[in-house]
Amino acid sequence: MPKFIKRQKNNTTRKEKKEKKILFQSPKGMHDILPQEQLYWDEIKKVSCQVADFYNFSRIDTPILEAAEIFERGVGESTEIIEKQMYIIRTKGGNRLALRPEGTAPIIRSYLQHGLGKLGQPLKLYYNSPMFRYERPQAGRYRQFHQIGFEIIGGSDDPIFDAQIVLIIYRLIQDLKIKNLTIQINSIGCKGCRLIYRKKLQNYYNKLTQKKICVDCQRRLSANPLRLLDCKNKDCVLIKEQAPIILDNLCNFCNNHFKVVLEFIDEVKLPYRLNHFLVRGLDYYNRTVFEIFTEGVDTALASGGRYDSLAEMLGGRKVAAVGGGVGVERLVELMKFNRAGNLLIKNKPKAFLIHIGEQAKKQSLVLIEEFRKSGIKIIESLGKDSLRSQLRAADKEKADLALILGQKEAFEESIIIRNMKSGNQETVPLRMVVKEAKKWIK
Ligand code: HAM
Repeated sequence: MPKFIKRQKNNTTRKEKKEKKILFQSPKGMHDILPQEQLYWDEIKKVSCQVADFYNFSRIDTPILEAAEIFERGVGESTEIIEKQMYIIRTKGGNRLALRPEGTAPIIRSYLQHGLGKLGQPLKLYYNSPMFRYERPQAGRYRQFHQIGFEIIGGSDDPIFDAQIVLIIYRLIQDLKIKNLTIQINSIGCKGCRLIYRKKLQNYYNKLTQKKICVDCQRRLSANPLRLLDCKNKDCVLIKEQAPIILDNLCNFCNNHFKVVLEFIDEVKLPYRLNHFLVRGLDYYNRTVFEIFTEGVDTALASGGRYDSLAEMLGGRKVAAVGGGVGVERLVELMKFNRAGNLLIKNKPKAFLIHIGEQAKKQSLVLIEEFRKSGIKIIESLGKDSLRSQLRAADKEKADLALILGQKEAFEESIIIRNMKSGNQETVPLRMVVKEAKKWIK
């Protein structure tokens, strides 16, 4: 499998493109979701609603724009998202708003704003929304992308919720028939043990001659030392191998919390791997952090973790919370790669209406309504008048039946039903067509 499944490019060269004089294209890193792709999006939406419904998550939608400060406080000033990736606009009234780069901080903002803590806790919320990050576009990484997120907010910080979030997200991806999934999981402890660990990490790196680590890591060393652990630079990778491990530095509470999370995950037999380099790029996390991968693809399909301090960071009280988000575009790419044919067949129409002559055309709309009432999907090409081109269209759509309403049939109030596979056909009274079509479809 390729590094990540590449978006299909058309074969036109740059020069040819210019010649075609396309004046406008979608913004870099942002994509149209074309009609032929909507099937995948519909399927993901349907399955995520089913999963949310089953596990009792309620839908929440927040505005696309939020006060930029929400993310600066929550996601963290020294993270890539805040330093480099936020789309910020200044309104005419002088407010600094950001196109949301992620969905968790806005949900906590909403939780605090609307006093959702007064509802039964923990509150289980989910969303399916576009996010925006000014990233370098590449396969599986876009500037506008969609996330389906699940958040368990309020109540206690019981490790069963960490395990349940991992399980739910795993099941969602699995229900979309994406196979060979593995979970990478780690604990980054609480404020207390993380502070001690950060110092140990800084000591370890400070003992090295600074030149050995990349420029980014030199900056991270003072600003955000945990991020040293997920640097992909070759030299930095070698250095971090010998660095102190966070799991060896957890306090008793965090250690026990993580142990129980893993026990719950063991109970439901999910495959996971401890990854002590996993620290995540958002500052609001504490304790459990995780990412889910599929074999052969090195970018995460989903990620998340516990974030008990986010509400406080946004000016509220402490609220225990854990959640995770799935990257929808990444799911779509995989689904396209794995089972393009299957989805198309599943959604193909049952019948195709062919009309010949004015009288037949006039009757078409009424006939289509009859089928709508009976729930049989029927399509047509009302703009085409020749029998040949309509039969070709019916074939292309892979409809089971063609219903042919010719001049003679329209006059005699009958219609031809033709099995598109076998070529068998029969003339039936027009008023009986829905009933007969049902029999033929069976
Ligand atoms: P995140 O890891 O930044 O976490 O994003 C979650 C998922 O969104 C990733 O695993 C990936 O599948 C997808 N994703 C991220 N960036 C891009 C991109 N540029 N293009 C395409 N897909 C992308 C969060 O955003 C957290 N809010 C997740 C969370 C929810 N944590 C707790 N609750």
